[in-house]
Amino acid sequence: MALHITPLESVGVEVSGFDITQAMGEALKSELISLWDEHAIVVFRGQKVDPKSQIEFSRIFGPLATHPIKETTSAEHPELFMLVNEPEKEKYHTASYNGELVVGRLDWHMDLHYTGKPNRGALLRSVVCAEKDGLTGFADLSKAYDALDADTKSLLEKIEVAYCFSMQRRHMRYVDLEGYEPGPYSPTKPADVNFPNFPDVAYPAVVTHPVTGRKVLEIADQFLDRIVAPHEAGLCNDEAIELLERLVVHTRRPEFHYFHEWQEGDMVLWDNWRVTHCATGTPPGVQRVIHRTTIEGETTLGRVL
Ligand SMILES: [Fe+2]
Repeated sequence: MALHITPLESVGVEVSGFDITQAMGEALKSELISLWDEHAIVVFRGQKVDPKSQIEFSRIFGPLATHPIKETTSAEHPELFMLVNEPEKEKYHTASYNGELVVGRLDWHMDLHYTGKPNRGALLRSVVCAEKDGLTGFADLSKAYDALDADTKSLLEKIEVAYCFSMQRRHMRYVDLEGYEPGPYSPTKPADVNFPNFPDVAYPAVVTHPVTGRKVLEIADQFLDRIVAPHEAGLCNDEAIELLERLVVHTRRPEFHYFHEWQEGDMVLWDNWRVTHCATGTPPGVQRVIHRTTIEGETTLGRVL
């Protein structure tokens, strides 16, 4: 069985030519791992997936993590993290964007980035597709790094960026707040959703990927707060803020992005050490169920401040 690999429009690949329900040999497994390492975003379509086969398939890429929030974890399969739009809960995830109510919109982020130890990767499967919107965006930050000019690259070698966990989107300094209004039930502090009060974390502005050795521009809109001690890199605070603004704009260029429109049977695997993702959200009342499996990472990329 030979894999069929089709590049997506700008970043990532779509892979077909195998059946998830059939046993896979070691050669096929290592080919899949190499594709994940090389392209960072891997899309599979039309597979007959159930929770068991999703878990088994995900294990090819490394040991799986269980999620600390029990409410969103499957009782039968602790490796399965379930994202479900439920009418009685969606008000907590509803906010207004340019006068329209949107459920579950999420800014560009890496999962668990705010802990300093993001997981290695994850695989999403659409169980119930939203009939409207509900796209997941992926941004390749190695390609974003490669496209920087040489001066910026060498400046970034001397810089660390700090991230501050916040519950309120309007407290995040580099997300696009134009037209944004929180909803009446939007959580205002981590304790509202049983989250701890996470300390700030810092990352090198350019992280060398522990497995592939590729450089990654460590800029994610969500929770991005400041450059640590900018004077040590010869920058005043104003220059530091302008540099972050410029880098955020750079990562938003469409040539680094892939937006997945979900169909039943789709799975998307990504490298969470190289790729940020975002969710466009759905209008209120739209059903949507996504199952996520999470591949653990044994390396801590950031440091707690
Ligand atoms: Fe996420």
